[in-house]
Amino acid sequence: MKKILVTGAVGQIGSELTAALKKLYGEKNVVTSDIAASNSAEEFQPYEQLNVLDKPRLYEIVKKHQITVIYHLAAILSAAGERNPNLCFDVNMNGLYNVLEAARELGVKQIICPSSIAVFGPETPRDNTPQETIILPKTMYGLTKAAGELVCDYYVTKFGLDIRGIRYPGLISYKTLPGGGTTDYAVEIFYEAIKNKSYSCFLKADTTLPMMYMPDAIRGTIALAETEFSKLKHHSNFNFAGMSFSCAELAAEISKRIPEFKIEYKPDFRQAIADSWPRSIDDSASRNEWGWKPEFGLSEMVDDMILNLEKKLS
Ligand SMILES: NC(=O)c1ccc[n+]([C@@H]2O[C@H](COP(=O)([O-])OP(=O)(O)OC[C@H]3O[C@@H](n4cnc5c(N)ncnc54)[C@H](O)[C@@H]3O)[C@@H](O)[C@H]2O)c1
Repeated sequence: MKKILVTGAVGQIGSELTAALKKLYGEKNVVTSDIAASNSAEEFQPYEQLNVLDKPRLYEIVKKHQITVIYHLAAILSAAGERNPNLCFDVNMNGLYNVLEAARELGVKQIICPSSIAVFGPETPRDNTPQETIILPKTMYGLTKAAGELVCDYYVTKFGLDIRGIRYPGLISYKTLPGGGTTDYAVEIFYEAIKNKSYSCFLKADTTLPMMYMPDAIRGTIALAETEFSKLKHHSNFNFAGMSFSCAELAAEISKRIPEFKIEYKPDFRQAIADSWPRSIDDSASRNEWGWKPEFGLSEMVDDMILNLEKKLS
């Protein structure tokens, strides 16, 4: 049986991925960790405090729980990374390095390490962005993710480790708020539409970005982890697509369900980040190598978000 460690487990992806992993592999076989000293929530037990920059502590946890798989989610995201590029570089590069070294030195069998559409930059074709293309990111976050993909692939070829990673688009979910990314508007908008019937959007109306609903992202992540290694030609950098829409298109879908909803646009520094990212993604490598197929389109996602957030906020 797998013994899984999730780093950054309390974040937007981790809080939902942990539940799915526990369901699949057993409550006790999924150890969660995050930077906070403690976490008493039942869903995160067993919990270990772990700053991924603390290599001895990481090794201690891997040995204590005889970890065989690490989902390495701890990171500083795009907008937070532009506010604090030093921290972003440190956590995203050195945290990953510690995890890879733990795998190499302690015999961890598999590492799942997320990448992002932030690896792409303004020189990359923005529509149907190919799997193999120009990777010249302009944000600190993007460059740590691009370097991270290369380091992960180095550990695959040099040391024979099993490492896999998806370039996630913006993820939309209702359970945990996003942690400082450029696509966060697509979650905030639902909270504000339900609570205040209005939203001030930090991107322009016609800004189109690739997005995905969290249930698809979780299903895809686990499907990639479960694919036989020999079937994979790529490892750490799978393009991964769900849907693409502009801010105005999302607002229009919400207005169909909440007619009083009003939106205004006040772009801030995140507009420049969004403008350097793709509008849509070609994910044929994921489809061909491990059978990826999304289930949620824009309309289904909006229905499900409103249904669940109305329950959560009532
Ligand atoms: N959510 C998205 O839309 C999205 C899109 C593309 C890629 N990703 C990637 O997926 C992964 C998870 O993202 P998320 O959205 O859950 O992020 P998040 O910000 O919601 O969660 C990250 C977690 O990492 C923790 N963390 C930060 N610094 C840490 C440290 N030094 N040691 C240990 N924990 C630390 C935070 O406390 C937080 O709980 C990241 O690698 C991110 O780059 C996310």
